[in-house]
Amino acid sequence: MKTTIAEVPKYVGEKVTIGAWLQNKRSSGKIAFLQLRDGTGFMQGVAVKADLGEEKFQEAKGLTQESSLYVTGVIVEDTRSSFGYELQVSDFEVIQEAEDYPITPKEHGTEFLMDHRHLWLRSRKQHAVMKIRNEIIRATYEFFNQNGYVKVDAPILTGSSAEGSTELFHTKYFDEDAYLSQSGQLYMEAAAMALGKVFSFGPTFRAEKSKTRRHLIEFWMIEPEMAFMDHEDSLVVQEQYVSHIVQSVLENCKLDLEALNRDTSSLEKIKAPFPRISYDDAVQLLKDKGFTDIEWGEDFGAPHETAIAESYEKPVFITNYPADIKAFYMKPDPERPEVVLCADLIAPEGYGEIIGGSQRIDDLELMRQRYEDHQLTGDAYKWYLQLREYGTVPHSGFGLGLERTVAWISGVEHVRETIPFPRLLNRLYP
Ligand code: 4AD
Ligand code: MG
Repeated sequence: MKTTIAEVPKYVGEKVTIGAWLQNKRSSGKIAFLQLRDGTGFMQGVAVKADLGEEKFQEAKGLTQESSLYVTGVIVEDTRSSFGYELQVSDFEVIQEAEDYPITPKEHGTEFLMDHRHLWLRSRKQHAVMKIRNEIIRATYEFFNQNGYVKVDAPILTGSSAEGSTELFHTKYFDEDAYLSQSGQLYMEAAAMALGKVFSFGPTFRAEKSKTRRHLIEFWMIEPEMAFMDHEDSLVVQEQYVSHIVQSVLENCKLDLEALNRDTSSLEKIKAPFPRISYDDAVQLLKDKGFTDIEWGEDFGAPHETAIAESYEKPVFITNYPADIKAFYMKPDPERPEVVLCADLIAPEGYGEIIGGSQRIDDLELMRQRYEDHQLTGDAYKWYLQLREYGTVPHSGFGLGLERTVAWISGVEHVRETIPFPRLLNRLYP
């Protein structure tokens, strides 16, 4: 019976064959422990000389790291391993003997590992992060489907900027200028006027020369947009959504969290509602914490966000930023037009901003004004304004950065390990 490691619990006491790679091994004169992985999981195979015979046993002892093989044996329960099962090897067939696999069990430097990303993905830790990323994606679709949202795909090639023109990747679109999408938001606003509650989920690009643990050049964003919802309504969606993905990972990725040594008690606490603090109060909090030179009107940097997040166990919404430091489309607070109806959601443990969201300007004249103030031109000018011309309604939306969310939930330091093939400043390989 050919099966996979993930399916092994169904075959206790039975003889199965698994296609696998040899991750590591340890052996003595009479017994060899083979650490096997097959993509679906990790388990130990035990090869005993008395069962295999002298020749086959010597072959097992000589197997090299990352050799591919079919292993046959009986599945038994093994309470010592967290997986809970092992395979008593009765036979194996080598598919290919791998020679000098570059990533050995010893420590390697980050640049070396990044240069071998195509192989590094096979390691236990990287495998776990990819499984958690997959679970977040699955739980995202589940959440929005259960709540009546329609998935709408935004274009990647666009004629204008969505967030700010300095970070655009330029390309040619035949004879025209085009840019890789920074955000699908403007298109989601159009889609919300057609379908009510929508979300996009796609790659976005920022030609930002930032070299921090939170920045990628290419990253994936989930962007819901809701007609007839104000900023308060949107915050409720955000906290429920983030709670849902965290609780889904806790439930469905136990072995992966364990492989990453993730402290799960801090994740258990991530349940809606989340605390909120206004930008004004956040500035005061920072002053109280010793950031004496921060002034009202300045944007927060990573150290500020980390300091604010330290005061809470859950992600915290920082609301109502000054209009001048936020995007052109955010709706001013009617009581206080110098601030906008927006929030950034800051993750705990120093992972920074995972969501940016706002209520959008729905007034045609004000939006026209904003285009002028921000000197925005390009092809969105016409169609985006038309959304305010024909049946404008209050609407809100947000964008969650997938990789920063994966980093936080997995507990990995840097976003470069949260996407299969990261695009970073100075890295387009592999
Ligand atoms: O705050 P941002 O720039 O918001 C927007 O793009 C809005 N149009 C979203 C919307 O309202 N529909 O980006 C949203 C999120 C950030 O909170 C962060 O998690 C992530 O995207 N993000 C990045 N992640 C990795 N690398 C980068 N360079 C990122 N820039 C933003
Ligand atoms: Mg932002």
